Amino acid sequence: MTNGYLFREYIGAQFTGVQFSDVPINAMLSFHFILSFAIDYTPVGQQPTPPAPTNGVFSPFWDTGRLSPSAVAAIKAAHPNVAVMAGLGGDSVQDVVKAVFTPASVDSWVANAASSLTSIINTYRLDGVDVDYEHFAAGADVDTFVECVGRLLTRLKKDMPWITTSIAPFEDTEIQRYYQPLWRKYAGVIDYVNFQFYGYGANTDVPLYVRFYDNQTANYPGAKVLASFMTGNTTGLISPDLGISAAKELQRQNKLPGLFIWSADSSKKSSYGFKYEVQGQQIIANH
Ligand SMILES: *[C@@H]1O[C@H](CO)[C@@H](O)[C@H](O)[C@H]1NC(C)=O
Ligand SMILES: *[C@@H]1O[C@H](CO)[C@@H](O)[C@H](O)[C@H]1NC(C)=O
Repeated sequence: MTNGYLFREYIGAQFTGVQFSDVPINAMLSFHFILSFAIDYTPVGQQPTPPAPTNGVFSPFWDTGRLSPSAVAAIKAAHPNVAVMAGLGGDSVQDVVKAVFTPASVDSWVANAASSLTSIINTYRLDGVDVDYEHFAAGADVDTFVECVGRLLTRLKKDMPWITTSIAPFEDTEIQRYYQPLWRKYAGVIDYVNFQFYGYGANTDVPLYVRFYDNQTANYPGAKVLASFMTGNTTGLISPDLGISAAKELQRQNKLPGLFIWSADSSKKSSYGFKYEVQGQQIIANH
């Protein structure tokens, strides 16, 4: 029996050889992998060079060799508490170009995105999507982003009522300028806010992390805001040990609906392996 609290981890963007089965999974909670990323760009290594935007026609850009439809089926069969999402957008197209939100129009982008993502969801038997755009074309204003993403999530939820949806903003004026209006208008079709707290500086201590968390719950009123930290090279940023301490404090204050880590790929190649995944899940499991 899971306790209803959530642990999530991004996987597949960095090509470190990580597989679902490498990651320890605690049976007491809901565990979501987020495949990183599905992007509406042409493939790397083909014409045109560099990859170009496709107006909402998404393809998988994660490590599809290891994180395949059969690997998704196997991890779900082994762990009934596991669900698998697709992250949309992300920072870059496999580090070749930035992944820029570039819709030709709201209607055409939504139509293309709904059909391509439905196909990916069916092929991989996915359970939801997480909106991760971090760059916006000059012509893509806030209203266009709000309507594209809001109508897409509305349509996916209508066609597939079981899916889980989330958005993944971080503290940046431009990002907040796009994501806060999206939340204000379309909160009804957004289940979680995966706030990227690992964007804050290394001078962040536990009380300051809690202040950041409280501020983001005010910025996204009524949202289930997940705490987060990253593994791997955290030079200049919040360390995983601080992330664990802050999650414990947020849980002590009875505020924490869940926690996520960026990323399984980084943990896989780190000297400490998956110890923070184990510690993070212990916090969530002991709710
Ligand atoms: C709170 O959020 C607002 C909006 O993003 C930001 O401008 C402000 O700096 C934040 N304050 C703290 C203490 O995080
Ligand atoms: C870690 O990240 C910092 C800051 O981005 C960078 O300067 C440094 O080269 C990185 N170290 C390694 C080992 O990748």
